[in-house]
Amino acid sequence: MRVLSGIQPTGRFHWGNYFGAIRQYIDLQHEEASYYFIADLHALTTIHEPERLRQLTIDAAIDLLALGLDPTKAVLFAQSDVPEVSELCWLLMTVAPMGLLERCHAYKDKLAKGLPSGVGLFTYPVLMAADILAYDSDVVPVGEDQVQHIEVCRDLAGAFNARFGQDVFRLPKAKILDHSAKVPGTDGEKMSKSYKNVLELFEPEAPLRKSIMRITTDSRPMEEPKEPDGDHLYQLFRLFATDEEREEMSATYRRGNFGYGQVKKALADVSQRYFADARVRRDALAADPEKVNAILRDGAERARKAASAVLLRAQRACGLR
Ligand code: ADP
Ligand code: TRP
Repeated sequence: MRVLSGIQPTGRFHWGNYFGAIRQYIDLQHEEASYYFIADLHALTTIHEPERLRQLTIDAAIDLLALGLDPTKAVLFAQSDVPEVSELCWLLMTVAPMGLLERCHAYKDKLAKGLPSGVGLFTYPVLMAADILAYDSDVVPVGEDQVQHIEVCRDLAGAFNARFGQDVFRLPKAKILDHSAKVPGTDGEKMSKSYKNVLELFEPEAPLRKSIMRITTDSRPMEEPKEPDGDHLYQLFRLFATDEEREEMSATYRRGNFGYGQVKKALADVSQRYFADARVRRDALAADPEKVNAILRDGAERARKAASAVLLRAQRACGLR
């Protein structure tokens, strides 16, 4: 089984990205083949400062490696290092109906808000389809927000196969990740860069603690017993806590007579503990950019080998080469 997924380097990773996506990709790296890439071409639809894009791309690679992605098991690379994907994207565009792309939410939402949207955003799902098809992927682990794009990928692959031969592209399946819509942010809404409510994975400890202390809470009296399950502070705590700590904390909630400040402090402690080893690995990688570049170069080489075979198959099928 071949697993593939990508993540956009549009900001530093946050807890939502980790529990909703990254942790689960890493768990899948033991599959027979797995490809993970940093979607810098997709990020160009939102990031327009060259140095920032370069830095975010390298930071994303460092973060993934620090969090446990093992480049001897998985192929890790930057999307733009595999030009075959952009060529494949064009071939897929020739079978893509306008109406299909007009229904895609990234474009549709912008249009509905009256915001200007470019052709890049409009054709974003076609590039994503090329990403997936280029490696003969079977399974694409993604959050719920990306499921529509996997459907588009299947439609485009099916349309190309119907026109040029049934065996050109392998049709992938989405694997919807647990928690993918669920990690709450500091205001209780879904954690997301666009809501400015994120807790970053590798923010230095002092400012991160400050952000945790600013998580919104309700104003019920301290003595009142509370139900932990609907509380976003507890939901964050349970992501990091051991079973024992979780039981203890939910008993505290149900008893009442506790302050949210105490829960926030406990959250800061358990989250710090959880990422402590990753922080050490991250510091070491950040101090050795040549090592990170070498991993990305090697990943790109392996990815290009797979992608060029698929591109050639598609080109031959439609009368090119
Ligand atoms: P953001 O919303 O901050 O821009 P992205 O859309 O770049 O994050 O997220 C990349 C992936 O991380 C998503 O596909 C999704 O699976 C996961 N993710 C993002 N935010 C959350 C969250 N709050 N809870 C769970 N998963 C999330
Ligand atoms: N569009 C995805 C996101 O925003 C990132 C992405 C690009 C991707 N290409 C992909 C994910 C291919 C899975 C497969 O999260």
